[in-house]
Amino acid sequence: MKIITTVKDLLNTSVCDSAGGKQIGMVPTMGALHEGHLSLIRRARSENDVVYVSIFVNPVQFSNAEDLEKYPRTLDEDLRLIGDLADYVFAPSVEEVFPVAPSEIYNFGTVSSVMEGASRPGHFNGVGVIVRRLLDWVRPHKAYFGEKDFQQIAVIREMCKQCRIFSEIVTCPIIREPNGLAMSSRNRRLSQHEFAVAANIHKILEESKRFNDVSEIVNYVESEMLKIPEFKLDYFQIADAQTLLPVDNFNSDNGVMGFITVFVGPVRLIDNVRYR
Ligand code: PAJ
Repeated sequence: MKIITTVKDLLNTSVCDSAGGKQIGMVPTMGALHEGHLSLIRRARSENDVVYVSIFVNPVQFSNAEDLEKYPRTLDEDLRLIGDLADYVFAPSVEEVFPVAPSEIYNFGTVSSVMEGASRPGHFNGVGVIVRRLLDWVRPHKAYFGEKDFQQIAVIREMCKQCRIFSEIVTCPIIREPNGLAMSSRNRRLSQHEFAVAANIHKILEESKRFNDVSEIVNYVESEMLKIPEFKLDYFQIADAQTLLPVDNFNSDNGVMGFITVFVGPVRLIDNVRYR
């Protein structure tokens, strides 16, 4: 595995790979890697000739300065975990990616304005800014994203449509801790007690599947969340799996999912569940 830190080197390498007829897979990350990220990288490894992983804590997708500052940065350990699973790790500085502050303003429509978009203004614009650059520079045949960030995938698909980026967007299932908590780089900031309590997010969502009515599910999840003093519910929303707009029944052919965001102490965790 080779580490690349400049955009020029990244472009040169990917242009050579493309010219050599290689099938390119890419996995964008912000580092602090765990089994969730590694599942994407392994999948990319198994489906491509060349694998690029990017590790870049993208400042323009953080709306909260403390969250950006506290975001774990563990490059040496990340490189060790990637080992030979990737051919190239792109780990640039902020100045390399953004020589001037980016000014692009996208309009991704409703997929970016509901739920995470409403709670974190500017977040998805920042995701669009960085993912567009990365996919433009590497031009992968396939780019891999995790369903933990389900709404992010919808935003990235919309960005690719609008910006004429033709990489195939491959989605991968959520990898969980043994206690059911969705793996996340932010889990490192939880105390041992908070980590144990946070397992209830997935547990409650799984139990909510036994109700057949949307309003019953919402009542159940909201009331169970209130019973746990460490939790502060940001939102729980049942939505169409494609448009991400709220639904009050299960009739949509696109499928119906539940999306949750909970503060556990100072740490904001997200998860989702498929009902139909
Ligand atoms: P990051 O949070 O580092 O996640 C990188 C990729 O790993 C994302 O596609 C995310 O959905 C996936 N992932 C994280 N936890 C996972 C889990 N438990 N199971 C499966 N996949 C998981 O998402 C980002 O970074 C950034 O927004 C990025 C797309 C890199 C743009 O900056």
